[in-house]
Amino acid sequence: MSSNQVIILDTTMRDGEQSPGVSMSLNEKVEIALMLEKLGVDVIEAGFAAASEGDFAAIQAVGRAVKDSTICSLSRAVERDIDLTAEAVGGAAMSRIHIVLSTSPIHMQHKLRMAPEQVLEQGVLAVKRARRYSDNVEFSCEDASRSDLDFLCRFVEAVIAAGASTVSLPDTVGYALPQEYGNLISHLLNHVPGADKVVLSAHCHNDLGMAVANSLSAIKAGARQVECTINGIGERAGNAALEEIVMALRTRQNHFGLQTRIQPQYLVPASQLVSGITGFQVQPNKAIVGRNAFSHQSGIHQDGMLKNPSTYQIMTAADVGWTNAPHMLVLSKHSGRNGYREYMRQLGFEFSSDRELDEAFLRFKRMADQKFPLDEADLRATVSKAA
Ligand code: KIV
Ligand code: ZN
Repeated sequence: MSSNQVIILDTTMRDGEQSPGVSMSLNEKVEIALMLEKLGVDVIEAGFAAASEGDFAAIQAVGRAVKDSTICSLSRAVERDIDLTAEAVGGAAMSRIHIVLSTSPIHMQHKLRMAPEQVLEQGVLAVKRARRYSDNVEFSCEDASRSDLDFLCRFVEAVIAAGASTVSLPDTVGYALPQEYGNLISHLLNHVPGADKVVLSAHCHNDLGMAVANSLSAIKAGARQVECTINGIGERAGNAALEEIVMALRTRQNHFGLQTRIQPQYLVPASQLVSGITGFQVQPNKAIVGRNAFSHQSGIHQDGMLKNPSTYQIMTAADVGWTNAPHMLVLSKHSGRNGYREYMRQLGFEFSSDRELDEAFLRFKRMADQKFPLDEADLRATVSKAA
């Protein structure tokens, strides 16, 4: 489907909850879902209805609470799961059934222990079953990036013909390289009858640190849905990070020419909410939502930033929801005179002469050589000659 809109499917509460060490209560899922709705997420994957009674109830509760996002649950390609899934999402204002079945030789042989033709038949039957309940059915060809390309093409054609309106091609084990993954999407779009009438979706894992790059490559090649999580949490090394994909599309609008419905000022609040609930701290240097993402410590950078922020920043902290701007300058032994003067100005000190500034700056440098971080009392002491 060619459109300049990229659909954002957030799976923080399904794939994200599969992170070792994470479990979310019903109330926590509702709280996260309301934040995702405010953020502008198109599709919220709230869980895996057949996984547990608790997950089933949480998906129902999310469906009741959210009005502006489509609520989706993952389902294995078996009747019981599909029926439960339909029931779990059925009360939502907008809902989707998301079916998954593996298509790679390694998964079909060792996990499913089925012949490829049997798997194909099961996939088609599953989509037909889901279509009894909903016309919004997504099919994920698990381990698509390690699947035989001709078989995958036949498979995708068959599930589209059976009624899937979104087809996802997961890089389940984070094995693909960006160019390869983009080529996979282009190949399907160009060779599978009907592929241009449905939405192709990217779902990338981060085992080699390429989940976001692979997702962007898929979008460039024509995928119009991307599946991602807040802070990139997920199985093993995680999933593609929602905040990184969204800000890459916005910041490099000149390259992609595409839009999302995401309101970026909620990215940091969403990140902090998910981190608080899961107990997974965000690494300081994490793009967009890490506490250092908009901080500048070296003298050269601080000087440039003070003259014109675009010298060292391609987005503003406020754009993505950071509300406390003072963390922009971090004082250390690497800092320069201009950064020090500006920081001290923010603390209420104006130097009356260059000499006064130079002397205080020298005291600051000596102190910074001994100690990091310096607190406010330390910095105040640098302006007194006794320091
Ligand atoms: O990574 C994957 O393949 C998945 C599927 C269950 C959609 O998460
Ligand atoms: Zn996944």
